[in-house]
Amino acid sequence: MNIVVGVTGGIAAYKTVHLVRLLIKAGHEVTVIPTEDALRFVGLPTWESISRNAVTTSVHEDVARVRHVALGQAAELVIVAPATANTIARMVAGLADDLLGTTLLATTAPVAVAPAMHTEMWRHPATQANIATLHERGVAILGPAEGELTGGDSGPGRMLEPEQIMDAALGLLAERDLDGLRVAVSAGGTREPLDPVRFLGNRSSGRQGVALALAAADRGAEVVLVAANIEDAVLAGAARHPLITVERAGTAAELGDAMRAASEDAAVIVMAAAVADYRPAEVAEGKLSKESGLLESIELVQNEDIVASLAARRHPGQIVVAFAAETPQDGEEMLARARRKRERKGVDLLVVNEVGWDRGFEALENAVQVIGEGGAVLARAAGSKRDVADDIWDVIAQSLG
Ligand code: CTP
Repeated sequence: MNIVVGVTGGIAAYKTVHLVRLLIKAGHEVTVIPTEDALRFVGLPTWESISRNAVTTSVHEDVARVRHVALGQAAELVIVAPATANTIARMVAGLADDLLGTTLLATTAPVAVAPAMHTEMWRHPATQANIATLHERGVAILGPAEGELTGGDSGPGRMLEPEQIMDAALGLLAERDLDGLRVAVSAGGTREPLDPVRFLGNRSSGRQGVALALAAADRGAEVVLVAANIEDAVLAGAARHPLITVERAGTAAELGDAMRAASEDAAVIVMAAAVADYRPAEVAEGKLSKESGLLESIELVQNEDIVASLAARRHPGQIVVAFAAETPQDGEEMLARARRKRERKGVDLLVVNEVGWDRGFEALENAVQVIGEGGAVLARAAGSKRDVADDIWDVIAQSLG
């Protein structure tokens, strides 16, 4: 995507270097437009090397290509970070005496600003009135956060962190077709303890489930994400999303309880977690030693099938989605197994994905088929786990009617 990042003259400009890096790493084309003042904080070479694009502040360069309007026209998203009180006032007035000013007037793309200033300046009626005007015009105001400011004082005025700005700004582009929908999503893999240091677990990283939660929330849904043993780095984006509440669960029993509670008022239940089918019959108080002989064979008892029980007690109109990870020999056999599983669990939709020693779990990409009423294949999706998540929500949205 073509993204313009406007940088204005505040010390938080140093954090915007990281924002640009994150956007580039996520595969976007970024043009940085600093104001003259911004260059007093972070210099032009830094912006050019980090964005891999030429950078200028002036409307008098590259005139042949009408750069002063071309950048705004080509942009699919404009982020101004940091946005100083001065820049916010200039945006309200529509001033166009530098390249950022003309670009902001020429663009029809969504615009997000991340204010950064001292608390007194943020609270001043002039700034508050300007912010209200930008908000009315459809500009997204991201932050500011409360926290320590450069003068050692603290209060609202701190620029949001680069990750938060990126997530919120990219979220503006998502279609809000799930606005207000309440959903419960489980993700990750349960761990069934054997003793204080050992457990029976599985290789689920939680990435597909987290992507499902993020995709729903970006489309406007209110999500409860029940996360079972997911690494912080995988969970981070969801944990800071304003529409996602993360609840942690360790074992199948804990995950079952959390999902039952979250499902009470959910319109859609998505069970993407890999739940252990069995748990050790007994959990030892102390670490089991080889000498005890108790590790030679472990007695297991079956866990409740959570998704089947949620499906059995669902209220009218509630949609229940299960996942099936299969290691198939051939595609037809995989589909036949998936169809049987959908029937057995009594769910509306079953998402089947192929896993093996080297695909599925930790991978960033996925390939799935969505099976619905009568065993019909409603969709095939492949690509990043986020793309796959969006395709799955498309099918769910259709089922909701
Ligand atoms: N699941 C569940 N509770 C369990 C086990 C699984 O809710 N105790 C859910 C998973 O979250 C997933 C779906 O059931 O949505 C598929 O799980 P899977 O283990 O593949 O199904 P099983 O019925 O256990 O079939 P298999 O014998 O192939 O393992």
